[in-house]
Amino acid sequence: MSLVYNTVVKPMLFRLDPEKAHHGAVDALTLLSYTPGVKQLMRAINQLSGAAKPVEAFGLKFPNRVGLAAGFDKNADCWMAFEALGFGHVEIGTATYLAQPGNPKPRMFRYPQHDAIINRMGFNNDGAKTIAARLANQPGPEKRYMPLGVNIGKSKAASLDEAVEDYRGSFSLLAEHADYVALNVSSPNTPDLRKLQEEARLRELLGELKRLNDEREKSKPGSYRPILLKIAPDLSKEQLDDVLQTLSELKLDGIIATNTTISRPGPFAEVSQTGGLSGKPVREMSTEIIRYISKATEGKLPIIGVGGIDDLDSAKEKIDAGATLLQIYTGMIYQGPFFARNLARGLAKYCGDL
Ligand code: FNR
Repeated sequence: MSLVYNTVVKPMLFRLDPEKAHHGAVDALTLLSYTPGVKQLMRAINQLSGAAKPVEAFGLKFPNRVGLAAGFDKNADCWMAFEALGFGHVEIGTATYLAQPGNPKPRMFRYPQHDAIINRMGFNNDGAKTIAARLANQPGPEKRYMPLGVNIGKSKAASLDEAVEDYRGSFSLLAEHADYVALNVSSPNTPDLRKLQEEARLRELLGELKRLNDEREKSKPGSYRPILLKIAPDLSKEQLDDVLQTLSELKLDGIIATNTTISRPGPFAEVSQTGGLSGKPVREMSTEIIRYISKATEGKLPIIGVGGIDDLDSAKEKIDAGATLLQIYTGMIYQGPFFARNLARGLAKYCGDL
């Protein structure tokens, strides 16, 4: 399968503009999502053997450790296909309260010689209301084979002072359809978004969403949703300490480390394209952040590790650093659709899940 991807599919896709190739892939996966017989057969082939123990994290059970990172299925079009490809969870989004077109094109750039991507998509998405309506017509939390995370971010039109209200709106519409909610305060392509990682603003945002979540649970038991924060790899140790302190005080459920980087390490020093860099160049930065979080929290805060996973060794490295679950994006673009399945099998052995 990898051979077919590398010799036939990838050369065809890589001849296309990256965003056009992305839309082609989403269309194909949307078709698979709505073709039940094929989907179920593929799921049976690609899932771990029945003897595998589920991985438990923040109150949910995952069929394996490898998920799809946010940004690929922004609008909840095709996540169901990833069950068939052997993924253990999917995070859709980033969804914003208001529908928005994102930044002018081109806004996604491949660097195959470095297994990397730079993107400045800018949260192009259909908006929380439309995405919620789509999710309402898809299998809900009790009918899924794997957990579905919904990643929410700030609408571009909302000022920093309006951010809490904007996130509240998205959370209210989307939480019921999610198994967990990820708060994105770390994408580099929405002006001011990353300022929400600063202590006072973060405390206000998390406090408000936590309150909303607790209220939902009180009025309808069972409707609490784990909330995870997705952070940037560019935080200093001091900033990271502040974030961890806030998460601990507010008893947040977990952390996703990390998003893309605005830094330009090594050969990227000369690259002038703006946006977030992902793939191999972010691997070490993200692993170091995971290691730091795990030590600082004595392994008590569940971590989803993401950033530059492109083979089994780089996946094991993040588990060794303290991650319980992993996510991939750029690695899948370069290694193909069965990359997650292969990683999940290798990790299940490595972690003793079989
Ligand atoms: C992303 N990523 C991302 N993250 C997020 O929280 N919301 C988003 O909308 C997006 N959009 C997005 C688009 C593209 C084209 C890429 C490549 C990435 C970041 C992604 O989820 C992940 O955190 C990083 O890419 C690091 O992981 P990889 O790609 O190195 O495996």
